[in-house]
Order: sequence, then C-alpha cells, then structure tokens
Amino acid sequence: MNIFITGVTGYIGSHTSVELLNSGYNIIGLDNFSNSKREVLDKIKEITGKDIKFYEGDMLDSNILDKIFTENNIDMVIDFAAFKAVGDSVQRPIDYYINNVSSVLTLLKTMKKYNVKNLIFSSSATVYGTPEYCPITEEFPIGNTTNPYGTSKLYVEGILKDLYTSDNSWNICIFRYFNPVGAHESGIIGEDPNGIPANLMPFITKVATGELPILSVFGNDYDTSDGTGIRDYIHIVDLAKAHINGIKKLASSNGGLFIYNLGTGKGYSVLEMVNAFQKVNNVKVNYKIVGRREGDIAECYADSSKANKELGWKTSKTLEDMCKDAYNYAIKNKDNFKNK
Ligand code: NAD
Ligand code: UFG
Repeated sequence: MNIFITGVTGYIGSHTSVELLNSGYNIIGLDNFSNSKREVLDKIKEITGKDIKFYEGDMLDSNILDKIFTENNIDMVIDFAAFKAVGDSVQRPIDYYINNVSSVLTLLKTMKKYNVKNLIFSSSATVYGTPEYCPITEEFPIGNTTNPYGTSKLYVEGILKDLYTSDNSWNICIFRYFNPVGAHESGIIGEDPNGIPANLMPFITKVATGELPILSVFGNDYDTSDGTGIRDYIHIVDLAKAHINGIKKLASSNGGLFIYNLGTGKGYSVLEMVNAFQKVNNVKVNYKIVGRREGDIAECYADSSKANKELGWKTSKTLEDMCKDAYNYAIKNKDNFKNK
C-alpha cells in the first residue's frame, strides 16, 4: 500500500515512517524543512534499511501535490504538516491559519481531483479547550480554544466533517494526540526543537544535558495532587504505531469519519515528570517554581478506550521508557543540538 505522508521528516512523521516502513508500507513523503532537517531521511533509512520516495516542497503548492499524485499511485494520506508552537501562533495567527488550514484545503482539493479519499489527520487535545473534567472522551464538546494553533486544528476538524457530510465515500480518521514525548529507542531519531523548547520534556532534557541552566515549573497552585499541571504523556513510538491501526481501520471501511483520542489515559504532574526523569537517568534536573503560564490548564488526560476497542491499539511504553529514550536521544545528538 502506498501512503503519502506530509511533514514526513518532522517529529511524529519520522517515527511514524519508521513503523510503517517496518510493517511493509511504501511511503511517499513531502516536507519543506520549515521545522526539520533533510538528514532525517538518512536516519530513517539507517533504522529501517528502506527509502522514502521524497519530495521537497510546500503543501500550500498545488503544483507539487499534482506532481506527487500524478507520479504515484497513492492509496492513503497521513497529514502531519503544520506549525505547532502555541505561543508562536499567538504572535503569527495569519501564518498559522495559512499553513495549518489553507494547506489542508489544498491537499483535500488535490485528493478529490485524484479520487483519493482516505485521510488520517493529526489533530490535538487542544481542541477540547478547558475540559470540565478528566478523563476526556471523544464526546466532550470541542471549542473555546485558547490560541490560534488550537483554533486551526478545530477549523480543520470542522472542514473534514463538512466534507464527509457532502460525500460519505470520504474515509477520514482524526487522531487527537495528547502529549507525545520521547524518542525511538535507537536514539537515531527524536524530538529536535529549534531554539529554546516550549514543551516540558525537551526542556527537562536540555537542563539534564547542561544546555539550559534550570527548568521553570509553571505554577504549583493548581488543584492537583502536588499543585503542578497534569498531562497525558504518550511515548512517540506508541503514538506512531497507532497510525498503522488507523490505516487498517480505513482500509476496511467504505467511508466514514472516525475520531480517536491518543493518550495513555494516565496523567502525570510536572514534578512527577521531573522526578521520574532524574531517577531513570540518574541525572540532576534543576528546577524552580514560577508563576503559571498564561493559557495553561490544570489537568488534561485522555480516555483512549475508544481507540483501544475500535482500533485494537494500546500503549505499551512506560513513563520510564519515555524519560530514558528522550535522554538517550539527547545525549547521542548533543553536538547537533548545540549547532542550533
Ligand atoms: P513537527 O514540526 O516536528 O513536524 C511537522 C513537519 O511538517 C515539519 O517537518 C515541517 O518542516 C513540516 N511542514 C510544516 N509546514 C509544512 C508545509 N506547509 N509544507 C510541507 N511541510 C511542512 O511537528 P510534529 O510534532 O511532528 O507534529 C505533527 C503534527 O501533529 C502537526 O500537525 C501537529 O500540529 C500535530 N500535533 C503535534 C503534537 C505534539 O505535541 N508534537 C500534539 C498534537 C498534535
Ligand atoms: N511546563 C513547565 N515548564 C516548562 C514547560 C512546560 O512547567 O518549561 C508545564 C506546563 O505548564 C504544563 C506541562 O508542563 O503543565 C506540559 O506543558 P507542554 O508545553 O509540554 O504541553 P501542553 O500540554 O501545554 O501542550 C502540548 C503541545 C500542544 C498540544 C498539546 C496537546 O504544546 O501543541 O500538548 O495536548 F496541542
């Protein structure tokens, strides 16, 4: 089966590519390297021994999409290409809406033109806004997003629903990811954010390697067990594997709109993450408590039983695996990070 993956060299795209190649799928990939590097392609080959048929270009460019759909017999599309930094999206809303919404319209138009109607779309737990309680099921109301990034995902979900209503032969799977962390156990690919990381795990990792001096813990006065924010961290390889289940689900369906949360169902606080990281890796992570970060919520974790039941997918990696693999990747690639 030929799977077209946009954003193929990014964090989730690269790990998903490894799992798909190892399971025998052919991959045609697109990326413009706005948040990744070409060398990721070599790293994917190093792990799997297999090549991706790669196109460098922008998903906003219908010409490159035409070329890809003309030159390849595409069965299914997985769309990862997007900007994803919450704070940045507040500063650059137009760029985010163009890159995260307009590009999807370009993709959908092209898919329609070539009669390819199987799509897996990367959405986010942010579409739930501030959840009234946890765990969050797919039936929770979505909306009231607090930043343009989250709103861009909400809009695309709305577009996909309208598309499916207009034509029930579309076969669409929306995955709402919770907090992917960690790296491939080889340490060859992982999360490689540009500049100072905004997310917790890459920040902890850089403090542990000595690249950053101290972690700021954003608030210890939330209504949680230790006062710090709780999230559903999921190992990137568990998340990547879910896409195989998604492909199988779509392959066995003649049309449908399927929505799944992807998380572990267990929440950990910031301090639990710091402590686990220190213990597993036997390394010190300096931290200080500071005020809350604007827009943060107290807790957010998934009820992923729908994906467990309907897709036959479940996570197998532990919090210890997440911490160990994140640090292993950081140590192995420390010089790369320093060049940034
Ligand atoms: P990433 O930035 O590592 O990967 C995205 C890739 O897409 C990058 O390689 C980037 O260069 C590419 N790209 C961006 N815009 C493009 C365009 N217009 N044309 C071609 N390539 C383009 O991000 P990620 O963490 O791998 O996230 C993948 C998807 O999952 C995104 O849609 C993101 O919003 C979503 N998501 C991520 C998280 C997370 O915490 N990582 C959580 C929820 C949802
Ligand atoms: N945190 C800190 N210090 C830091 C960074 C984060 O204390 O330096 C805390 C936050 O306050 C929060 C927790 O760690 O309590 C997790 O924060 P992240 O920034 O790692 O993750 P978020 O849950 O805020 O958001 C992430 C992605 C979004 C995605 C969402 C999905 O940034 O893009 O997960 O749930 F949509």
